[in-house]
Amino acid sequence: MADISYETRIIKVSASQPADDLLRPAALALSQGELVAFPTETVYGLGANALDAAAVGRIFAVKGRPADNPLIVHAASLAELEPYVTAFPPLALCLFQHFAPGPLTLVLPKAKVVPDLVTGGLDTVAVRIPAHPVALALLRLAGVAVAAPSANSSGKPSPTQAWHVAQDLAGKIPYLIDGGPCQHGLESTVLDLCAEKPRILRPGSITAAQIESVCDIRPEISSPSQGPLRSPGMKYRHYAPRARVVLADESAGRSPAALIEHFRADKLRLGLYCSRQKAAAVLDLCQPLTELAGTLAPGGCLYYAYAELPDPALAGKHLFDALRSFDTAGCDIIIIESLPETGVGLAYMNRVKKAAQPEL
Ligand code: TXA
Ligand code: MG
Repeated sequence: MADISYETRIIKVSASQPADDLLRPAALALSQGELVAFPTETVYGLGANALDAAAVGRIFAVKGRPADNPLIVHAASLAELEPYVTAFPPLALCLFQHFAPGPLTLVLPKAKVVPDLVTGGLDTVAVRIPAHPVALALLRLAGVAVAAPSANSSGKPSPTQAWHVAQDLAGKIPYLIDGGPCQHGLESTVLDLCAEKPRILRPGSITAAQIESVCDIRPEISSPSQGPLRSPGMKYRHYAPRARVVLADESAGRSPAALIEHFRADKLRLGLYCSRQKAAAVLDLCQPLTELAGTLAPGGCLYYAYAELPDPALAGKHLFDALRSFDTAGCDIIIIESLPETGVGLAYMNRVKKAAQPEL
């Protein structure tokens, strides 16, 4: 099935006010069992009608995704998600009241109607109401709930721009809706409400402190060292570019300058992802990625500055674009600025560490 080939139609729409006429053919295809890639405020998703097991099966085939890694069910409103869970407990209602539509996914007891393929055989289902106007318009026009993982090949960095999706999935899906770059750039916070205590399975832009501040409950946070994981997806290889990823950490004596000197001695091609403030210290060693003309010479170094000053939200927003862009430029090593693991910094460092340990 994955080997059916398509001429992928890329539909460019306004991010804030997408025209229904442009979205309608993709929405119809989605409702009829085809796969459609679309922007959300976190990352691009690869959607299928959540009640169509054959269509959902094609998501796994096209991405090369392990069958035991469950998908998130997306809908445009709480009412439209209701048939997919047995009930919304008061805490879920409180959370969605404050954070939906938005980058929060809740794991709840699954209703029978959800195909086992969607949930990897679990008795729970992950649900989310995305905030992106294009995602909401597509869901409304399709009139079905949509199971959607990130629209990348399994193991690769998640896509935050349409060209990232095309790099992995062109020729494999009929429609890619291009709504420009995603606002957050990191996938949603996944919060398990079926465990003994609410637990964050995957950190995202919505933090434990924000959840506590509105619903008066401090969720626990899963760490990979905490034994069996409730979120099957967290055990797989993730976010891995072709290049090797190395963390810069001044406090551990691994400054960007020291790492650059170390690797260029071996004539490796380097990329550095950091704030402009950090890049200022290595301007004599690196050139901006945007100014690369032709190919990067052995021992050369490019930098991608995500913002003026260190900022976890902006670092997260551009991280996956940087990983793909450095790969495209031919880098062997990508050096990444470490940030404190507080607030959104926890989500940023979660992705960076996984990218640096592709065997995880
Ligand atoms: O921001 C996002 O969440 C994006 C956009 C497209 O919505 N989607 C996304 O999907 O990142 P995906 O499939 O790449 O990641 C879903 C995560 C995986 O770690 C998966 O294991 C977890 O959610 N998950 C899904 N259903 C689950 C369940 N029933 N129990 C525990 N974890 C679940
Ligand atoms: Mg993913």
